[in-house]
Amino acid sequence: MKLFVDTGQVEEVQQAAQWGILDGVTTNPSLIAQSGRGFKETVQAMCEILPEGAISAEVVSATESEMLREAYEIATWAPNIVIKVPMTKAGIPVTSRLTSEGIRVNMTLVFSVSQALLAAKAGATFISVFVGRVDDISNDGMNTIEEVVGMVDTYGFDSEVLVASIRHPMHVVESIRLGAHIATMPFKIMQQMFAHPLSDIGLERFTEDWRKAGLSIF
Ligand code: G3P
Repeated sequence: MKLFVDTGQVEEVQQAAQWGILDGVTTNPSLIAQSGRGFKETVQAMCEILPEGAISAEVVSATESEMLREAYEIATWAPNIVIKVPMTKAGIPVTSRLTSEGIRVNMTLVFSVSQALLAAKAGATFISVFVGRVDDISNDGMNTIEEVVGMVDTYGFDSEVLVASIRHPMHVVESIRLGAHIATMPFKIMQQMFAHPLSDIGLERFTEDWRKAGLSIF
């Protein structure tokens, strides 16, 4: 399973990359707007930090021709960029066109298995299925992940299911259980994944026993 960080902050990418567990980054227009830095400089910095990773950068227009124009521009910024395209009637032909030209697409704002089927048929490399925003309106976002993973497996699509809009580590745990290919999460949640009280207690005990015995490695 791949782990992506969902952020507009270059420093967070830097930190997660240092851990050696980071496979990619997802950004979106809101995250970039919050970053306080320019779109191109932010994305290029992330691409440099993680040259083997997939860095998703999103188009912001609504029409097919404008989305394509933006996608071609963004795609020149670095070789490891993936173009994020919204799930709309215009977004699907844009995805088909870009993928047929070898430009990878992350289809975003997917909320149902029928939308995900269209994304898979258009050749999207990643299908971003949002879970938190569905939970926010009193539904179970993970149900859609189960359906989409099943759909991709049943028909043998190459697309990878990317769990997005993750709100807490249990979303990651459920994503693992359902066999999702990728989880993208805020940096804070990645940090929370380290935590287990028994790890802390266990380490304290080992350290104390070692200290009491007066042993040394060197
Ligand atoms: O980048 C897409 C995404 O993960 C959005 O998350 O928290 O704004 O629903 P959120």
